[in-house]
Amino acid sequence: MQDRVIGVGVIGCGEIAQLMHLPYLMELPAFRIAALCDISPGTVDKVAEHYGVTARYTDHRALLADPNVDAVVICTYDHGEMVADAIRAGKHLIVEKPLAFTPEEARPLVEQAERSGLVALVGYMKFYDPGYEIGLERIAAIGRPKSIHVHDFAGRFDRYGQLYTQTRVTDVPADVLAAGRETVARRIEAALGVDHAGYRDLYLVLLSLASHDLAVMRGAFGTPDCVVHAQQTGPNQLLAVLDYGGVPCLFDMALAQYEWWDEWIHVHGERDEVRIEFQNPYFRNASATVRLRETTGEAASERVLPGVPDTSFRREWLHFADCILAGVKPRTPLSGGLADLDLAVRIIQAMPPKRL
Ligand SMILES: NC(=O)c1ccc[n+]([C@@H]2O[C@H](COP(=O)([O-])OP(=O)(O)OC[C@H]3O[C@@H](n4cnc5c(N)ncnc54)[C@H](O)[C@@H]3O)[C@@H](O)[C@H]2O)c1
Repeated sequence: MQDRVIGVGVIGCGEIAQLMHLPYLMELPAFRIAALCDISPGTVDKVAEHYGVTARYTDHRALLADPNVDAVVICTYDHGEMVADAIRAGKHLIVEKPLAFTPEEARPLVEQAERSGLVALVGYMKFYDPGYEIGLERIAAIGRPKSIHVHDFAGRFDRYGQLYTQTRVTDVPADVLAAGRETVARRIEAALGVDHAGYRDLYLVLLSLASHDLAVMRGAFGTPDCVVHAQQTGPNQLLAVLDYGGVPCLFDMALAQYEWWDEWIHVHGERDEVRIEFQNPYFRNASATVRLRETTGEAASERVLPGVPDTSFRREWLHFADCILAGVKPRTPLSGGLADLDLAVRIIQAMPPKRL
């Protein structure tokens, strides 16, 4: 069992599949790329040629019926139905974040995955970042925080796509893509409720950008008891105050156009402070940096702990292999993805009403 090579089917061969997942699947001995699927026939052909893959599909159900596929990674826009189909087909899976677009869609997936005994992970790769792991140890060591600040203003994504060669063939009819986005919009409006449906686009930003932050916060502090305050502070910007067992957390998020990456968690303890600064997710071999401010005797001391150079996506795949081959407990199970969707809806619903 330990020596088995896991055949992986990649569903959705776009940016994140090409930049991160496919190169690691090619490189890591535990895996082989068994099949590729994309709704764009041109894209799947080009990517398959590059990786020498003969099993090519434009329908994920056909890929799931392929006996050489033991596991899948879902890298499309709309994931929920594919997760359900993958579990039904008996495939282990990594689903890119967010798990689904609404808690209602995600809830049955969690139950289905738990009943199946399959390994099912949400692709919260920051959980596997060596710097985040060091940061968690330091946060635990400073005791009960006085206050927490989570900040994600990201930075320009388009700059970094240029670091890699990408193939994108535009051969899917525009009306097919538009129809898919329309159904997602309606499902989100229904989940937010008529009084908050006007925040649909902000909720989408929260899921696409800041679901990582909700997840790493959950990894450090669990799920907040309540959303004390939330407001929209710009077209793609929000500010919220969350309460973690009496500890206040200021959470601010925006789509910014910085030339740098600006995402961090700062934890204020009674005497010491810990700050985890995350790297641009498109950088390889660059982990989060931990900054410590400590009281040493009567003096102040500051230290920087750079995480060992590694790529969180690579470590996510290694963990996936350990879960499948050695029965290791998944660190990012689907239940976490559901908890984050629940919190995202609670944040939006704590804002003043805004109808469409
Ligand atoms: N973990 C991270 O840091 C990270 C970073 C970027 C993207 N993502 C997530 O990865 C997912 C994909 O993002 P992306 O930037 O690669 O998008 P993308 O648009 O570049 O790629 C998506 C691909 O899926 C294909 N596709 C769409 N519908 C399909 C279907 N029904 N069947 C098969 N293929 C289909 C598209 O043709 C496209 O090639 C998103 O859910 C996003 O949130 C995660």
